[in-house]
Amino acid sequence: LKVTMTGVDGIVHTFEDVEEGTSLMELGRQNGVAGILGDCGGGCACATCHVYVAQEWYARAGQPDEIEHAMLDIVADVMEPTSRLGCQVRMRPELDGLEVTVAPASA
Ligand code: FES
Repeated sequence: LKVTMTGVDGIVHTFEDVEEGTSLMELGRQNGVAGILGDCGGGCACATCHVYVAQEWYARAGQPDEIEHAMLDIVADVMEPTSRLGCQVRMRPELDGLEVTVAPASA
């Protein structure tokens, strides 16, 4: 599966062959994408994996659940309408080609 991820440094990373089930946080962290920290290890408890999903992909990626939404509130100053926590978005076939941009750290 293909994912394009832009780091906070503006560097665009294109990944081919991403395995189904891999989260965007894992993908970014394993590949050193700037701005993806994943401090809580994917537990939806830190928001350091915050990404903006490209508008055209948001519907397919889905909306955050209640817990994720509560975490996103903590980074409300940099939250956008297509914000998601990268650890809560796992790759699946219909997301092949997904494009996301890493969000800047919250103030
Ligand atoms: Fe902590 Fe996603 S890695 S919320």
